[in-house]
Amino acid sequence: MTQGLTCSCGAVAAGDAWACAKRGGDDQDHVLALPMPEWSVDEGSSQPFVRYRRMLRSWVEAGDDSWFVDEVGRLDAAVAGVDGHGFEVTPCSEFLVGERIITVKDETDNVSGSHKARHTFGLMLHLLIRQRRAGAGAERPPLAIASCGNAAVAAAVVAAAERWPLTVYVPEDPEAAVVARLRELGATVEFCPRVDGEEGDPSYLRFQEAVGAGAVPFGCQGPDNGYTIDGGRTLGYELAEQAPDIDRVYVQVGGGALAASVAQGLAIGKSQAALVAVQTEGCAPLARAWKRTAELGGLEEARQQRSAVMWPWTPTPASAASGILDDETYDWAAVTEAMATTGGHPVVVPEPVVTEACEVGRSATGINVSPTGSAGLAGLLCDDPPADAKPAVLFTGAQR
Ligand SMILES: Cc1ncc(COP(=O)(O)O)c(C=O)c1O
Repeated sequence: MTQGLTCSCGAVAAGDAWACAKRGGDDQDHVLALPMPEWSVDEGSSQPFVRYRRMLRSWVEAGDDSWFVDEVGRLDAAVAGVDGHGFEVTPCSEFLVGERIITVKDETDNVSGSHKARHTFGLMLHLLIRQRRAGAGAERPPLAIASCGNAAVAAAVVAAAERWPLTVYVPEDPEAAVVARLRELGATVEFCPRVDGEEGDPSYLRFQEAVGAGAVPFGCQGPDNGYTIDGGRTLGYELAEQAPDIDRVYVQVGGGALAASVAQGLAIGKSQAALVAVQTEGCAPLARAWKRTAELGGLEEARQQRSAVMWPWTPTPASAASGILDDETYDWAAVTEAMATTGGHPVVVPEPVVTEACEVGRSATGINVSPTGSAGLAGLLCDDPPADAKPAVLFTGAQR
């Protein structure tokens, strides 16, 4: 068994642990962190999990390059069988938006219609490595995720490619089209009504119970599964290579794994871009945490007293950018650290700008982006950087 990851609390996890064992036992923040590898690119491939494999933790743990490349190819072909195509480096181009030239990284045609499958494909590689290590006939633990949006679909596509059983925990009133797609993909959909006297999101609570009973956290949030950042970083690697001259990147933040992954990929790629984290005024727990972190004396202090920095947003979050309404920014510490080290900051967007940015972005680029997917552009419009700035945004999800 390879060595486990180190948690932000300092504890070293067991080699097979997806999350820190101390999580929930105290008021510290607990997120397993992946080591930062040296930049290394296989220029012969445009499949991100092959091109950047030497920077993937899964590749290190596999310890067998030719097996790894074959396995990525096999899994990618299976994903293509389910979703129509596999992974390719996604387009990144400059567009004139209003009077500005903006670099736009387009994830809308990626597997499952968003960047999220990068996280779940990366997790599946870890599962396949563990399965190989355990030997033929080893039992496959069930997979679990709490989501009713792009993350759930991304999990279901990748799970379906491996025919690996997945349960998706959804709220009582999920979007019908998403539920239909999840069922089409063979996922078990578990509806989670509110329970009297119970605090917190019932789908997340049921998900946690499933994980407690042995299911693998197969989602896109660092505290539940530190390895989810592994595949997510490929988006940062691509951006570092495709747009080496950008000086800032506006990233929409829900749970925060996207921004954490992209920032780490950019840092490994020696990008000079500052991270600007974007939320909407209907749900901005990260901007609040940024302020609280400064008040508490810095990130180290803040990490010791999580409940003084991060708590559920009230009232019930609402925005047209419905994919970034996580009432807590689970990966707040990694995103805060990245903003601080790159000279970035948070931006909170008024709701009218969310829809305006989506319209402007769609007409300037011709990309079928959703309001969640273009929320980074909304942040840029509000932030209004100097005219000579070289900004980038990520169009992370298609309008369904
Ligand atoms: C299209 C899209 N963009 C961005 C995000 C935000 O990602 P994260 O929750 O990792 O911050 C989401 C999350 O659901 C999403 O669906």
